[in-house]
Amino acid sequence: MRTLTAILALGLASVSLAEKVTTPLPIGIAVAQTSNTALLGQEQVIGARFAEKYINARGGVNGTPIRLVFQDTGGDEAGAINAFQNLITKDKVVGIVGPTLSQQAFSADPIADRAKVPVLGPSNTAKGIPQIGPFIARVSAPVSVVAPNAVRTALRLDPKIKKVAVLYAQNDAFSTSETGTFQQTAKDQGLNVLTVQKFLTTDSDFTTQVTAVLNADVDLVIVSGLANDGGNLVKQLRQLGYKGSIIGGNGMNTSNMFPVCQQFCDGIIIAQAYSPAQPSANNQLFVKEYSAQYKKAPPQFAAQAFTAVQVYVDALKVIDRKKKLAEWELADLRVELNTQILAGKYNTPLGVISFDKDGEVQQKDFYVAQIKMKDAKTGTFVFLK
Ligand code: ALA
Repeated sequence: MRTLTAILALGLASVSLAEKVTTPLPIGIAVAQTSNTALLGQEQVIGARFAEKYINARGGVNGTPIRLVFQDTGGDEAGAINAFQNLITKDKVVGIVGPTLSQQAFSADPIADRAKVPVLGPSNTAKGIPQIGPFIARVSAPVSVVAPNAVRTALRLDPKIKKVAVLYAQNDAFSTSETGTFQQTAKDQGLNVLTVQKFLTTDSDFTTQVTAVLNADVDLVIVSGLANDGGNLVKQLRQLGYKGSIIGGNGMNTSNMFPVCQQFCDGIIIAQAYSPAQPSANNQLFVKEYSAQYKKAPPQFAAQAFTAVQVYVDALKVIDRKKKLAEWELADLRVELNTQILAGKYNTPLGVISFDKDGEVQQKDFYVAQIKMKDAKTGTFVFLK
């Protein structure tokens, strides 16, 4: 009896090990569809959905369509872990795009890495993400590359800036990473960082921090937080009388922040890893079709999510040409896909990108934009030269 059970168990195990790849090809999207983090995640959902439609209209992977499987991560680590586990074991995806936050990636990515499932971070910009493991790469350039551009531009717009206040969300991995870059850049530019204030992404009252900023009498405030807390902080800064320049970080790079800070969003300077003006033919076609569908230009988080899906598809095309995807076992394909992602070069809306051996994105073009509010509800990101 014992032997029979053992044989049965072995049989079942080998059945699950020998799992074939299903079609349409399932790619997992684990981003925040609920919670405050959905202010960023909603744009990622739109970018990914648009990629699915755009790519399948062009024949998918050499004639085989893709199918995106969405799992909502919410805004915390537990939600991201749960979404990753579902995608890996239940939905049997070939790879994962996600999660939204670096804070979530440091918990969820190791699970995919151990399961040998490739992950492409679409928005994780904290230092150390690709180094989580060999199966982790990202299309979102790190804070060290993106953030300094905002400081340089703020100084160009107002060369008299000398005194700086820096604020950051101390319970968020990305924000603590980004503030390190901001503080170093400020020093490198010869600025005086007069106060460093901490807050939490769950805070809604920033009186203490704003009072410290006003007392320091600075002419530049640099905020590293997420859209809801960062937006409320900026609003309270302005309401309590701060008149100087404001830089917001990557976690505030969304028009979904406008309902939070309303007209007080006006003037915030934010570095960009994407511009609709990026001149490549690929990007211009992407912008044209996206704008036709959504009546606005694609924002950074949507363009990066699109890019992540595209990288999977381009890498799968190369593999499929060598050996038809239907002939692969899922576990083997996931490993091969990871290898191919790191080996390839991709002509994406972000420009031509590739990855270094750790999975860090190699990208050339970066930008800075400034928020211009028309009224309390409507505004745009104006790209600066
Ligand atoms: N860039 C932000 C992060 O890494 C969204 O968490």
